[in-house]
Amino acid sequence: HRHFISAADLNAVQAAELLELADGFVDLNRQTSKKLDLLKGRTVMNLFFEASTRTQSSFELAGKRLGADVVNMSPRSSSMSKGETLIDTAVTLNAMQPDLLVVRHASSGAASLLSQKVGCSVINAGDGQHEHPTQALLDALSMRRAFGRVSGLTVAICGDVMHSRVARSNVSLLNTLGATVRLVGPPTLIPAGADRWGAEIHHDLRSGIAGVDVVMMLRLQLERMQGALVPSAREYFRFWGLDREKLAAAAPGAKVMHPGPMNRGVEIDSDVADDPNISLIQNQVEMGVAARMAVLASLAARLENRP
Ligand code: CP
Repeated sequence: HRHFISAADLNAVQAAELLELADGFVDLNRQTSKKLDLLKGRTVMNLFFEASTRTQSSFELAGKRLGADVVNMSPRSSSMSKGETLIDTAVTLNAMQPDLLVVRHASSGAASLLSQKVGCSVINAGDGQHEHPTQALLDALSMRRAFGRVSGLTVAICGDVMHSRVARSNVSLLNTLGATVRLVGPPTLIPAGADRWGAEIHHDLRSGIAGVDVVMMLRLQLERMQGALVPSAREYFRFWGLDREKLAAAAPGAKVMHPGPMNRGVEIDSDVADDPNISLIQNQVEMGVAARMAVLASLAARLENRP
């Protein structure tokens, strides 16, 4: 594919190749000199209609470490209508001849829509509740480096699955890579039809994470909820917040992940999140740069023959 819109764009061989490439970039990023020229002469445009700390800065670093020119744009979504304005924006940007366009937008399907209107490669950096494929890639890279493999692991994705693009992309990529996936959350936060995604559904945190290798906690996405559905933080933490006591149900040596940003004391206890022996959360951030370098390099290689 010219674009990277969904984790399902990757088959098992392509996913393994990207992870291998990214793994090498992790080692490069730990060196004093981090610059390559794989993307020399290329232009990467970051177009973030929604807030981001990790994804935007890691795409910027990834592009720069590969030698590309990187342009960051953060349009104020409040002043733009969806649909028409998005297409207008895409056509305008396309006229500036970028090679790679990295897009985050609050509407599911936005990245796919843009990809049909531009001549460059489009990378989905999160579209509404739909997908966040580079997050799934960096999560798989984090697991691979922690366990030496992804295949055969059991991963529980817990909490607000309903509003989570991270969950959807992870279920897809983890299945492609041969992991077993559970979705764990209250019935109100597991979407109808999730039983067809390729994951077991559990409605109790302790039994849902029993024996798993990885507990991936999701942010409670209050900004995507209607008032009537919003639980209190204290009530949510009591049943769905991961603390050391609940984590004891997981396999010995289990690792804890969270895509960030975290709501401490809501879905995760700081005691667990900050323990370097069990938490991969900082590793995930580090892997984000390498995973995005791999995606940029791989798509740029496909553009090589473009006039
Ligand atoms: N995990 C993630 O996408 O974080 P940001 O929203 O900070 O980019």
